[in-house]
Amino acid sequence: MATHSEYGASTTATEVAAAFAGQIKGKNVVVTGISPASIGYTTVLAIASQQPTHLVLASRTQSKLDIVVKDVNAAHPGVKLHTVLLDLASMDSVKAAAQSVSDLLDHVDVLINNAGISTPERLANTAPDGTPVDGQFLTNHLGVFLWTSLLLPKLRAAPTPSRIVNLTSQGHHLSPVRFSDYPFTKGVYDVPEDEKPREGLPPFFLRTIDGYPGFLGYGQSKTANILHATEMARRFRKRGDQITAFSVHPGTIETELSRSLDQEGQETIAKTAPAGLWKTQDQGAATTLVAAFDPALREVKVGGEGQPLGYLSDCQLRDDMVADHAKGVDTATKLWTVTETMLKHTVDL
Ligand SMILES: NC(=O)c1ccc[n+]([C@@H]2O[C@H](COP(=O)([O-])OP(=O)(O)OC[C@H]3O[C@@H](n4cnc5c(N)ncnc54)[C@H](OP(=O)(O)O)[C@@H]3O)[C@@H](O)[C@H]2O)c1
Repeated sequence: MATHSEYGASTTATEVAAAFAGQIKGKNVVVTGISPASIGYTTVLAIASQQPTHLVLASRTQSKLDIVVKDVNAAHPGVKLHTVLLDLASMDSVKAAAQSVSDLLDHVDVLINNAGISTPERLANTAPDGTPVDGQFLTNHLGVFLWTSLLLPKLRAAPTPSRIVNLTSQGHHLSPVRFSDYPFTKGVYDVPEDEKPREGLPPFFLRTIDGYPGFLGYGQSKTANILHATEMARRFRKRGDQITAFSVHPGTIETELSRSLDQEGQETIAKTAPAGLWKTQDQGAATTLVAAFDPALREVKVGGEGQPLGYLSDCQLRDDMVADHAKGVDTATKLWTVTETMLKHTVDL
């Protein structure tokens, strides 16, 4: 149970930060995906309002980071802000950025993996071991996995239990992880039963460009974010690490996420907002703040057979909103193993 059962869709990150001021003060926090028009912006503004010791902003566009730093400094002078250039689609950049964070901080209390892309185009790529993947899987999962694993020593060094928060989406319902076809080169339904998208999806979500169904690709990557978080949490508990991991659906918020969609795409996404409820950016960061700082969530034993999945929506734990294909210890473990192979990187966990 989260501390505040009254929190919901209209709760703001500013409000949550004030409620958990004692948990934020003195903490070292790292947040990815920071631009003026993104949820990352309101996430760091809210955290900065409650005196963290260090706040690291990691993202791929320096000019956008500079604007956000200026705004945060103006609103909350005195916070030790740092920027780190991070391109999650480049494993060399991920390694360099993780090294920069490690040079800056002796420990990390909270890591918020907020950065992500949603694109209708394939952005064909390969994993470090040569496995073909699409750009969404590469950026939203492989990059996030490597980045998080490289920061584990700093999370382990935290004096109090530390946390990892993966931003996912209800869009994860659109596709399981396609272990036999990560880049969607086969027909949408030409894969084993448990890798197929659900029957009866609105045709729009099956739309392809050059054979690539972008929404399904996004869905696959967001399913991976949930499986990654639960598998990490399970391994942390098994090993006795004082770290846990949650996944968060932030709601429907007007940001730059749909920047590459056409008009029809934008309108379709708009209809996914429950009862037409578009969140403000401050509301859109609220659930992330709960996952990162609510002390009551320390009691949640995330991961493992029969254990909670640690999925939050509208500031509450909502495992009931998770698709069957994003549950399952076997699937989470399989994704972990194949990801290590694809990255040619074994995680110390
Ligand atoms: N908005 C929604 O309604 C919604 C709904 C469900 C889930 N989400 C999730 O919420 C998170 C934040 O999304 P948002 O809506 O704020 O989207 P956004 O406005 O597009 O922001 C995404 C952020 O991630 C950064 N980013 C993109 N690719 C990156 C890369 N390769 N390496 C490092 N940083 C990168 C972007 O930087 P640049 O601006 O420099 O490109 C930007 O700062 C995402 O994980 C998304 O899946 C959003």
